[in-house]
Amino acid sequence: MVDESGIMAFGRYAHIVGWGKAVPNRVVTNHELEQIVDTSDEWIRSRTGIHQRRIAVDPAETTATLAAKAAREALEVADIPASKVDMIIVATSSPEHTFPATACAVQDMIGAVNAGAFDLSAACSGFVYGLGVAKGLIASGQAENVLVIGAETLSRITDWSDRNTCVLFGDGAGAVLVQSSPVPGGILATEMGCDGSGGDLLILPAGGSKMPATLETVASGQHFIKMNGRAVYRFATRIMAEATRRVLSKANLTVDDIDLVIPHQANERIIAVSMRNLKLPEEKVFRNLQYYGNTSTASIPIALYEALEQDRIKPNDTIVMVGFGAGLTWAGTAIKWGVPTEKETSLWRASQRSASYGLAKARSQWLRLSHLLGSNLVTEDGESLAQALSNRLEDWRKQLESDEEEEEQRHDPKQEKPSLPNGTSSSDES
Ligand code: UT7
Repeated sequence: MVDESGIMAFGRYAHIVGWGKAVPNRVVTNHELEQIVDTSDEWIRSRTGIHQRRIAVDPAETTATLAAKAAREALEVADIPASKVDMIIVATSSPEHTFPATACAVQDMIGAVNAGAFDLSAACSGFVYGLGVAKGLIASGQAENVLVIGAETLSRITDWSDRNTCVLFGDGAGAVLVQSSPVPGGILATEMGCDGSGGDLLILPAGGSKMPATLETVASGQHFIKMNGRAVYRFATRIMAEATRRVLSKANLTVDDIDLVIPHQANERIIAVSMRNLKLPEEKVFRNLQYYGNTSTASIPIALYEALEQDRIKPNDTIVMVGFGAGLTWAGTAIKWGVPTEKETSLWRASQRSASYGLAKARSQWLRLSHLLGSNLVTEDGESLAQALSNRLEDWRKQLESDEEEEEQRHDPKQEKPSLPNGTSSSDES
């Protein structure tokens, strides 16, 4: 593993400076599930703590569209344009396709023209793994701004006739913008682990190279989530406390230093047992699984978003996020919260951003056309017509961004970046 203290010595810290959330509108209650499988609201509430979940019923709403919506909000809060994002990491267990990566679709949707993009497959631990990777990219100087997204449409890979699984999961996305800063704090340490011998306990068996899709795999439901709930439960109640202790030790902290734990929102009983093991008081544990069910990689960033919304996090607080999932994987991170939790965006900036997203969409459409036409239609200079139009759109978008920066300086020349708790700005030299 990486020497955490060594990374700090470079003086590049990774702070979460933006956050966003997207969930489908359709609420599905436990009572509705009583109509399709042999279950009851009472069983679901008492065994899991879940009251309802959000389901993407519109086929046009996908993992990528939810991810892009959450990402746009995170950029809004961070107050940076999509063109300044260096890397997009989408943690997901329900990607749009095996390839290309869902992160590439997000890159196109938000117009992050300078970003690399890849998917991260570590199941429900994926978002916290993503934070660990983002911290590494920033600490090593390879990136300034990294979007880390957890996004799922698990409803599309759920067997709605299997009561063991269909009552548990929900759809949604959460995103954060992790930014480089010379100000100490931010992501202090991460713990990422795996026990591959438990791979069969929670699995989507078919559709990969081991079990390619056939009529039989479809007929026998092998393209749906299969889970040994009891075994995963035993693993989860052990590993959540263990991963928390390990990450605290890496960050030279103790359980008493924690202001808030944001655990993976899988099951109320798993959270309760794990937090009791840690002797953490109830008020230091955030829960919202009653509203969303288990949204896998999206559960922690959605919970983080709502914790911020409810004023449960303040600058200088120590936050631990910890999760477990298929693999079997686990991950924890300890964060010294670095930025103000209330952000205002002017109407002017919001409309600039929305125009910029409109241009990104137009650019994407022209590029798609260009891929189809190849070099069939060319300008007088020999450039592909679609590419020429795309370049023009990109110029307009850049113009919008520079107008935005000028406008910002005109209104508030001192405010360049959200200020950090010690009063410095995130762009100050150390
Ligand atoms: O992100 C990671 C994802 N996975 C998890 O977090 C899963 C971890 N596991 C769990 O959360 C729990 O094991 C479950 C909630 C899945 C199940 O709770 P449990 O207390 O472990 O129940 P169980 O599997 O021991 O089943 C108890 C009974 C069984 O009936 P019998 O065999 O005792 O007659 C099940 O068939 O409950 C039955 N059952 C249900 N009954 C009503 C299972 N699912 C349901 C249901 N409604 N939806």
